[in-house]
Amino acid sequence: MHFIPLPDTSLAVHTRGSGIPLVLLHGFPLDHTMWAGQEPLAESLRLIVPDQRGFGQSHGDGPTSIAQLADDCIALLDALHVNEPAVICGLSMGGYAAQHVAARHPDRVRALILVDTKLEADTPEARAGRRDLAERVERVGQEILADAMIPNLLGKSDAARKSPRRGEIDASLRRTIMATPISTIVAALSALGARPDMVEPMRRVAVPTLLVVGAEDTITPPECLERAEQILPNARLLIVPRCGHMTPLEDPATFNAAVLAFLQETAGLRKTAG
Ligand code: MLT
Repeated sequence: MHFIPLPDTSLAVHTRGSGIPLVLLHGFPLDHTMWAGQEPLAESLRLIVPDQRGFGQSHGDGPTSIAQLADDCIALLDALHVNEPAVICGLSMGGYAAQHVAARHPDRVRALILVDTKLEADTPEARAGRRDLAERVERVGQEILADAMIPNLLGKSDAARKSPRRGEIDASLRRTIMATPISTIVAALSALGARPDMVEPMRRVAVPTLLVVGAEDTITPPECLERAEQILPNARLLIVPRCGHMTPLEDPATFNAAVLAFLQETAGLRKTAG
């Protein structure tokens, strides 16, 4: 891990591998550890996995907007001297940031991977729910958020619950949420609630896009990504069975295979022997 200084903060970033750059942007209220199952991708790609501002080991008070997270991503690529267009992959909040990267900096994006996310803005009810949650976190602490979110992050079917890694995933999500500063949670909930609707901007994003969603995702259900597939000019959709809102963590083998096949077909990634 190393720190990348930005004008107003510094980001912790983990890099591995070489070749086409692939940036992995984590969801809320998590950090780079949610991408642990993607480490094998470093055999074929240059992985760039930051803790976004205020999360994980990065400094700062959390984002003031999703656009700021997108600009941080570009600043990170600049600092790492990534001059060629990168593959930008984001899950949920990371997916909102990835959409902003593609809309604001199209020349920096070779392909897009949007995971368990959506294009639409919050409804007024969802926004009010976030304000209420932020108040409760400020009053009581992170366990309110962990208790509210963890049951909804993972698949709920018997098959998903019986996965041998379920207990370990549950514990790691709780550890990460409990370690996220309250100021970051409050700032991010506000940024998430204020994020703009991306339906119109994304109609013009023509880079190859892979949409991935867990069949059991209740936060951004498959319908969200089915709508996105109709809106994006160059998108394909994969619905992964037995997964909830954390597809890359719940089924890394299926996710990684889909990413490699997509990039081999659309982004010039060479097939490795065997
Ligand atoms: C996430 O997983 O990043 C959040 O669920 C995003 C959201 O609340 O919209």
